[in-house]
Amino acid sequence: MSSRSLLGIALALFSQLPMAASNQHGSQPDAKAGEQAAAVCASCHGVKGESSNALFPSMAGQNEKYIIKQINDFKSSTRLDPVMNAQVANLSEKTIANIAAFYAQQSMPTGEADPAVVELGEAIYRGGNLTKQITACGACHGPSGAGNPPAGFPQLAGQQAAYTVKQLQAFRTGERANDANEVMRDIAERMSDAEIKAVAEYIRGLRP
Ligand code: HEC
Ligand code: HEC
Repeated sequence: MSSRSLLGIALALFSQLPMAASNQHGSQPDAKAGEQAAAVCASCHGVKGESSNALFPSMAGQNEKYIIKQINDFKSSTRLDPVMNAQVANLSEKTIANIAAFYAQQSMPTGEADPAVVELGEAIYRGGNLTKQITACGACHGPSGAGNPPAGFPQLAGQQAAYTVKQLQAFRTGERANDANEVMRDIAERMSDAEIKAVAEYIRGLRP
């Protein structure tokens, strides 16, 4: 797929999106209630969404729309993970919105990129790879990795590198298949292990 059609998909996704989920039911989400509900998540995702395990994603500062979509995808087994499918099975729509509001208000802790590969990672993140038709990550995830909250494109900046590597590999094999229009699967299948590792390290060092 060319970068032009990818941009088309991004725009199409954007235009289809409803307003923030919080407005759909007439009531604003309650971040305080979300903090309480997220207490059971803290052992893996951190008290304020700052994970200290390389394979558990940090959630601090992640946009609400993306978090809500992922939790619903785990609930419906559109995204598969034995731990997470069970964790969210009984969460109500309201609790999900509250938890998302709580995490979105926190800030992502800073991380350090591995200097040995950061240059290649930066090149891919900012410029993609024309020959292999890998679209620049920053086009959708933002130049600093802050994501695109209205579109629900996830914040990547500061994320655990091993987690990012695992996700890109899972998109590449199709094991993770919850991305609309296969947007991430199409990109990841063009990426080598070395490129995945490098871009994950660069992302780890980004500040949203
Ligand atoms: C026992 C550890 C554990 C607990 C407890 C846990 N999670 Fe997770 N969570 C994970 C792991 C591991 C992943 C990554 C799964 C993968 O590799 O795809 C994850 C992924 C997620 C994601 C996707 C993040 C992203 O960037 O795509 C969300 C959202 C999430 N968890 C929310 C929650 C919520 C809400 C709770 C509490 C109700 C919770 N988790 C409890 C381990 C846990
Ligand atoms: C055309 C837009 C677009 C481009 C370009 C793009 N992404 Fe994504 N990316 C997305 C969307 C949308 C999602 C969310 C998919 C879903 O709903 O689960 C995503 C999800 C991800 C995730 C999972 C985040 C998490 O917390 O689990 C990672 C990692 C990721 N992208 C990395 C990259 C990298 C690295 C590049 C560049 C090589 C890139 N993306 C290019 C749109 C894009």
